[in-house]
Amino acid sequence: MTDEFSSSMIDMRDIFMDLPVLETEHLFLRKVEKSDARDFFEYASDEEVAKHVLWYAHQSIKETRRQIKVLQQQYRHGSPASFAIIDKKSGRMIGTIGYMWVSSVDCSAEIGYSLSREYWNRGFMTEALREIIRFSFDILLLNRVEAQHGTDNPASGKVMEKCGMKKEGILRQRLMNKGKLIDTALYSILRDEYYKGGQQL
Ligand SMILES: CC(C)(COP(=O)(O)OP(=O)(O)OC[C@H]1O[C@@H](n2cnc3c(N)ncnc32)[C@H](O)[C@@H]1OP(=O)(O)O)[C@@H](O)C(=O)NCCC(=O)NCCS
Repeated sequence: MTDEFSSSMIDMRDIFMDLPVLETEHLFLRKVEKSDARDFFEYASDEEVAKHVLWYAHQSIKETRRQIKVLQQQYRHGSPASFAIIDKKSGRMIGTIGYMWVSSVDCSAEIGYSLSREYWNRGFMTEALREIIRFSFDILLLNRVEAQHGTDNPASGKVMEKCGMKKEGILRQRLMNKGKLIDTALYSILRDEYYKGGQQL
């Protein structure tokens, strides 16, 4: 890695405390707000959406409100957190995308996401992930962005591939999902690949 960039040179906490609103063709990515509770609950209570993520389907809107509080606490502390995905057309919150962790020492991060079933297969998560990858390199100055998905969730791998991420391999029994250890496929994209490969265009 050269001296030209280093995510350790910027205070990432300041950025996470004051997350900007990001815009793509069909979406806004912004901090989750209290008023998102109903939309958030609507998709997060869907067992099909929760199947491949590490959280359980929400059982009540109270649980969703608690989750919003957790996210807002992360914003306040400047911890790595998720953006709400907003459908521009309807103004509804339809998912989340964001950081599972960020390492300023290694200049790397892992991204996680989920989307309302109503919006699957329209290219929306690909659009959101592309923007988060851009944000990770342009603003957080990271060197490596990674993501992983359960091997029984190929649609998520497709999203990663479409965003220029490369499959690195299978991590055996890597994550506990609802009481069961699952194999995951690990993908990444490096800073050099992103800029030299013209991914940013
Ligand atoms: C996985 C998920 C994020 C995909 O979001 P999305 O907006 O539907 O994704 P996109 O439309 O951008 O791309 C999906 C791609 O997967 C493909 N796909 C869909 N189902 C598939 C399947 N069973 N097998 C292989 N590919 C599949 C689609 O055809 C599309 O590829 P294409 O553009 O080449 O046709 C969404 O389904 C989701 O939120 N699922 C529940 C939560 C989740 O799984 N989160 C990820 C955890 S790792």
